[in-house]
Amino acid sequence: MLGRLNHVALAVPDLAAAMAAYRDTLGGRLSEPQALPEHGVTVVFVDVGNTKIELLEPLGETSPIAAFLEKNPAGGMHHVCYEVDDILAARDHLKASGARVLGDGNPKIGAHGKPVLFLHPKDFFGTLVELEQV
Ligand code: CO
Repeated sequence: MLGRLNHVALAVPDLAAAMAAYRDTLGGRLSEPQALPEHGVTVVFVDVGNTKIELLEPLGETSPIAAFLEKNPAGGMHHVCYEVDDILAARDHLKASGARVLGDGNPKIGAHGKPVLFLHPKDFFGTLVELEQV
C-alpha cells in the first residue's frame, strides 16, 4: 500500500524565519508561500531532491496546528506523508485493520491538489500520518 515518502511536515511559529533558515542557512530550494484557509495553514515546500519538507505556519483562529505549536513553541515535526495509488482502497484497508482515520473519513484536497487523509497518531507510534493519492 505504501508508496514513496512525499514529504515531512514541520510546524513552525514564524514562517519567514523558517524560510530564511531553509533558504539562506541550509541552501534549500523553496516554493512561494501558499495560503490554504480550508486547512488553516500557510505552506512552503522545500525541494530536497528525493522528497520535500513542508513548512507549516498557522493561518486563522482555528488552525489545526495551533495546539501543536502551543505544546511545541519552537516548532517541530508535525507529520509524515506517504503516497498511495488508491486512497479509498487504502482507507478501507486501514479501517478494517482498526486504524482511525481523522475527520469524517473522506479525503480532502491537500496542498498539491490531490486527495489526502490523516491517520490517528496513536495508531502509528506517536506520529501523525498523511496519505496522498498520486
Ligand atoms: Co502534509
